[in-house]
Amino acid sequence: QWQDRVREMVATRQDELTRPDADQGLLAAQMKQVHDELVQLRMHYQFGIDEVQTKVNILRQEFEQIHDYSPIEHVRSRLKSTESLIEKAVRTGGEMTVPAIRARVHDIAGVRITCSFVSDVYWIADMLRRQPDLETLTVKDYIAEPKPNGYRSLHLIVRVPVFLSEHTEYVPVELQLRTIAMDFWASTEHKLSYKYRKNLPGRLRAELDDAARVAADLDERMERMRDEIRPMPDRGET
Ligand code: GTP
Ligand code: MG
Repeated sequence: QWQDRVREMVATRQDELTRPDADQGLLAAQMKQVHDELVQLRMHYQFGIDEVQTKVNILRQEFEQIHDYSPIEHVRSRLKSTESLIEKAVRTGGEMTVPAIRARVHDIAGVRITCSFVSDVYWIADMLRRQPDLETLTVKDYIAEPKPNGYRSLHLIVRVPVFLSEHTEYVPVELQLRTIAMDFWASTEHKLSYKYRKNLPGRLRAELDDAARVAADLDERMERMRDEIRPMPDRGET
């Protein structure tokens, strides 16, 4: 099944991935080893997701307990399938070894946090970043600077320690924080891009463009009402 696909993919790019005199048996053995290592790698990334999810759940439950309100609306996580991990590893080029793949694919583990309000997005991100065991590797603020297609979200790559029996693994997790409006837009855009394989008809492109503006405008309006619901404690309001 997918192991054969790995071999197929490697075979199609054999000149890049192996030396011309590569021994087929050796190549198969190497791929088997990569496969086994990837299975273990994915397990570690799942642990990374579990750690981050626990952190987010703790914040959420604490908020609900104390304030009857949580700035976190929903949380979803996903672990990249072995198949798309291999596909991305091949597509991005480079060595097909586990350390090399780890170093160049940063979205093996993903956690998406949806909030009601834009300020809550930054607030939750700050709360997580202040946790001493979470190291922030990168921040991409597509809210301050939306992508040309109108995509908005705050992306962080954080590194979380996972304590295993023999050693500690530091696992990068891609965090996507966004509002309900941003999430609605992004999921619609994703479905359309998927359907049209990135060749969106001009009419739909214009619709999406317009929808992105409406979504951003809605976020602004909602933000103005936010303080009526719950003042920001870190602004010293009560
Ligand atoms: P990838 O290689 O696709 O992961 O992109 P990247 O390494 O340049 O990272 P970036 O932070 O731009 O995007 C990471 C993830 O954000 C993607 O896998 C998507 O889940 C989401 N994303 C980024 N751009 C868009 C977009 O235009 N539309 C939608 N729907 N999602 C997006
Ligand atoms: Mg990605």
